[in-house]
Amino acid sequence: MDKIGNIIRRRRSCRAYTDESIPREKLIELINDAVWVPSGSNNQPWRFVIITDRALMKRYSDSAKSDWLQRLDEAPHMRQYEQAIKNPEYNIFYNAPALIIVYGNTESYWRVYDCSMVAYNLHLLAEEAGLGACWIGFAHNIFSRDEVKAEFGVPGEYELVAPVILGHPAAGHGGGSGVPRKPFVAEFYDGGQ
Ligand SMILES: Cc1cc2nc3c(=O)[nH]c(=O)nc-3n(C[C@H](O)[C@H](O)[C@H](O)COP(=O)(O)O)c2cc1C
Repeated sequence: MDKIGNIIRRRRSCRAYTDESIPREKLIELINDAVWVPSGSNNQPWRFVIITDRALMKRYSDSAKSDWLQRLDEAPHMRQYEQAIKNPEYNIFYNAPALIIVYGNTESYWRVYDCSMVAYNLHLLAEEAGLGACWIGFAHNIFSRDEVKAEFGVPGEYELVAPVILGHPAAGHGGGSGVPRKPFVAEFYDGGQ
C-alpha cells in the first residue's frame, strides 16, 4: 500500500480527462470514504450534488463564465483569468466526466472547514484510485445561486463549499511533478528544551 505522504505529494490538480466515465458506485464509494473527516461538534454538515451529465456541466460552465465577465468589477480576483473566461473553447469543468458539489449546512458554525476537508479527501482518494481531481472555484458563482440550488433540491440553509471535478487523467496529466511549494514560516516555542 502506498504511503499517505506519497499520495499527498503526487496529487496534482488535473485539468485534462479521457472520455471514460466513473461508475455511480465508485462515486458513492469515494464520498463514503471522504466523509471520514473530523467535523466541528461532530455535526457532519455536508450534503452532495453529483453531476455526470457533461452537457449539463457545459451549460453551467457557460453561465458561470458569462456571469464572471459581467461582474469583473465586483470580482477583481477573476480579472487575471479574463482571457480564459472569454475563450469559448474553455470549459471550467475541463470536460470531466463527474462533478461532486459539496454543500455545507449554515446551521453548523464550522461547515466550511468540515466540507473543505471532505473535498480534499476526495482529491486524495481520487489520486489513490488513479483518478484526477480539481476544485473548481470558477463555479462558485453559479452553484451558490438560490435558483440553481433549487434546481438541485438543495435546501436554502445549505451554502456552497466545494465543486470538485473527477475523472481519468488524460495521458501526461496524472499526478507527479508540478507546482512547487513555497518555503513556509514556522515558529517553535519549546520552552528552551
Ligand atoms: C479553493 C480553490 C479553488 C480552485 N479553483 C480552481 C479553478 O476554478 N480552476 C482550476 O483550474 N483550478 C482551481 N484550483 C486548483 C488550484 O489552481 C491548484 O490547487 C493550485 O494551482 C496548486 O496546484 P496543485 O493542486 O496541482 O498542487 C482551485 C483550488 C482551490 C483550493
